[in-house]
Amino acid sequence: MKKQLLYGIGLLLAGCLGMMQAAGRQAPAADLRIEGLRCEYATDPIGLDVRSPQFSWRTESQRRGVLQSAYQIVVARSQEELAQDNGVWNSGRIESSRSAGIRYEGPALSSKERYYWKVRVWTTDGGQSDWSAAGSFEMGLLDEKDWVSDWIAYVPGKPGRIIYFKGTFCQQKEVEKARLYISGLGYYEMYINNRKVGDHVLDPAQSSYDKRVYYASYDVKDYLSQENVLLVAVAPGWYGMPKLRMQMEIAYTDGSATTLTANHLRAVTTGPTVYSTVFDGELYDARLEAPDIYKPFVPAGLMNKDWGLAHIADSPGGKMVSQKMEPIRVVDTLTPKIITEPKPGVYVFDTEQNLAGWASLTVEGERGREITLKFAETLYDDGLVNQENLRNAKATDTYILKGEGVETWEPKFTYHGFRYVQVEGLPHAPKVGDIRVKIVRNAVAPVGKFHCSNELLNRIHRMVVATEASNLHGVPTDCPQRDERMGWLNDLTVRIEQAVYNFDFSRFYAKFIDDIADTQHEDGTITCVAPYRFGARPADPVSASYLLLAWKSYEYYGNRNIIRDHYDGLKGWVDYLASRTQDGIVDYSYYGDWSPPTQFAAAPGSAVSRDTPGQLMSTGYLYYCASMLSKMAELTGRDSDKARYAQLAERTAEAFNRTYWNEQTGGYAANNQAANSFALFLGIVDETRIPRVVKNLADDVEKHDYHLTTGNLCTKYLMEMLTRYGHAETAYRIATQTTYPSWGYMLQNGATTLWERWEYATGDEMNSHNHPMMGSIDSWFYKYLLGIVPDAEHPGFDRFTIHPYVVDDLEFAEGEFNSVKGTIRSGWSKKNGVLSLNVTIPANSVATVYVPSSRVGSITESGKNAAKAPSVRFLGEQDGCGVFEVGSGDYRFRSTLKK
Ligand code: BGC
Repeated sequence: MKKQLLYGIGLLLAGCLGMMQAAGRQAPAADLRIEGLRCEYATDPIGLDVRSPQFSWRTESQRRGVLQSAYQIVVARSQEELAQDNGVWNSGRIESSRSAGIRYEGPALSSKERYYWKVRVWTTDGGQSDWSAAGSFEMGLLDEKDWVSDWIAYVPGKPGRIIYFKGTFCQQKEVEKARLYISGLGYYEMYINNRKVGDHVLDPAQSSYDKRVYYASYDVKDYLSQENVLLVAVAPGWYGMPKLRMQMEIAYTDGSATTLTANHLRAVTTGPTVYSTVFDGELYDARLEAPDIYKPFVPAGLMNKDWGLAHIADSPGGKMVSQKMEPIRVVDTLTPKIITEPKPGVYVFDTEQNLAGWASLTVEGERGREITLKFAETLYDDGLVNQENLRNAKATDTYILKGEGVETWEPKFTYHGFRYVQVEGLPHAPKVGDIRVKIVRNAVAPVGKFHCSNELLNRIHRMVVATEASNLHGVPTDCPQRDERMGWLNDLTVRIEQAVYNFDFSRFYAKFIDDIADTQHEDGTITCVAPYRFGARPADPVSASYLLLAWKSYEYYGNRNIIRDHYDGLKGWVDYLASRTQDGIVDYSYYGDWSPPTQFAAAPGSAVSRDTPGQLMSTGYLYYCASMLSKMAELTGRDSDKARYAQLAERTAEAFNRTYWNEQTGGYAANNQAANSFALFLGIVDETRIPRVVKNLADDVEKHDYHLTTGNLCTKYLMEMLTRYGHAETAYRIATQTTYPSWGYMLQNGATTLWERWEYATGDEMNSHNHPMMGSIDSWFYKYLLGIVPDAEHPGFDRFTIHPYVVDDLEFAEGEFNSVKGTIRSGWSKKNGVLSLNVTIPANSVATVYVPSSRVGSITESGKNAAKAPSVRFLGEQDGCGVFEVGSGDYRFRSTLKK
């Protein structure tokens, strides 16, 4: 389609630069500000263990058409050196518009060293910024030899219990700097002098512990005093027997230093938590609390019956890696207002929102009284919680009172997926506030907003965001509630985009791709979930998410390291899939387009599609992956691989067409929505056949009374292809359905997060009520209703497109996406046949804006002929839109719509 534009894209950029230069304005430095310095996508990180970290920044300016032409970065060991431009690395002036994913290329960075950096830029119109304020980054422990601490554990073991490791130390001198490097498996929290270190919960992020163990780094100077009590609580979590490794490195103002290791914390005890498991919950007996634990006391000789001695333990096996993703935190607290009593003495709190986290209980009663909190997504008709769909997860917390006045408790090392909390055993009827709900997830920053005139779509949007937000617990989980909570790669293949428009995944995805790589065998096979807990090896070939994590991180965040670092593994997986072909068709499939409406399933109760051949999906994804790999080979300078994988892609497309194209029907395989939309999405349909395929696709939707028949993957392609090929109104009708199967149907049946099935189900079969895999409609809102689409040829939003599809029923749609360049806005409204389209393009970015219009020549921008407006260039007419190239700034287009 792009080909139809009047000018080639390459020429456009040059033209745009020329145009802006021609304007000849000299930018006063004061109007160009460099903000948002990030290193490896984090602000002033400590404990970084990436040897060539990547820098990024934002340019802020009030002017239009601000485009960086060059940058310069200086990295130094001190602020003083930095001020004198005298550092370990000075990039010199680099001619480039890039401002994200810029790799450090100076001499090797040293473990534990702190570095400062700054950047300045030049713009195409002759402007130059001042140096930015200094950013910083501090390296972590780069080599295993930097770890002087052993792993320790309480070897006799206390199954299911939290183990407390304790030590004390005194110091007389003044602390200059204190760093803590720590990991405790499965989950840990550290307290220094009875104060919890940091605000992470459920740390560390889960991983394949025999391959990689995450540690966190903290500045703990402010926690220390002369007498110090160090206490670390470690729970089984996803690991099993609690193990601890930590070292605290303290530098004193007199130049001396000391290091404390886990060996200083060898006094162990158990606490009041009688058991703690991820799926089942925690049992806490407050009568067992021993407040002395926080006091500077370690029993002499450990002869006290409550104490034992930790021993040096085997390493879990994996290398120590600094945790790069945002930690899990309590991100919000809700107070459920609805309390029912379906049975005498049994109270159910309704949070009115399905979510992931836990509850905090406030109660007063006699010693020994036992209170249970049962968590569930649904209720039985009688109002009691229904936990059947949690399978073997008990999802129950128990608190036993100590009987000393008002007691408030919440668990530490478990979490639940729930809307309802059923409380039993209370001494009296509860009141609002006795249960508070903590929302717990990786604290990725929200980056997107979407709002339109149809409240149903707004509700769907909120439902998808809430579902994504419920499924970020170290890995992108499939669900937060039952005995599963795994990072399923098939689901993620389509989740990535719905997720990146709503939250900043620049660090999370870089972590999760490592998890996948850790599952890879020498034969190239990866597993269905990462870290590998269950599922199959080799993974289903629809697990294109392995490549997509790298590709989308490049496309959206400009991250180049991720492709370079993972290239060999990605290639291994593609080679493996290629080795599993016969006549070009991949010879296996487990899930394919998983979980379509049940009448399109292969058998009653099955979630496998009846009409969409699994091998069609597998082969399509081989094509998709081979094409992506060819582009990655090109980017990393591997010319022969580029050609090789392009050929593999071509052969695979031929086999796909040879095997599944049906000349009689004019469609693929069963000529259903999934097969036809997938083929169109892949771009492998012969041009002469496209009209028939598109017609079949749209007709099939009409035949099903504007309902979808697709599963977790092809729903995305269905919505996108209908829109792209002239049937936006049809896609909109699917989006706004309220009868089964549809998102509106979920909402009408009380959903606040997405279901796993298109059907409402509550029994013990597969029916999670908080499952992100059906949420790709949300990326359709951003990419098609708002029209914000990145350009992989110019990654990191160096260039992008705004192409809104203005559907009849909507009066307006508006929203934004906070990209690595800054905030992009797109908002349109219709009134009396006039379309207003307001867009914001961040500085140092160029966008191609499609303005829908029936009279392209009469489009205006800020009241003037758009083609002549400053920083706007008319490119031509396409698909009923005037197409303009615009530089940074705010633009107000007006156009006439046919009526
Ligand atoms: C997961 C799904 C996944 C499926 C694949 C289920 O157990 O919850 O999200 O797509 O397995 O078989």
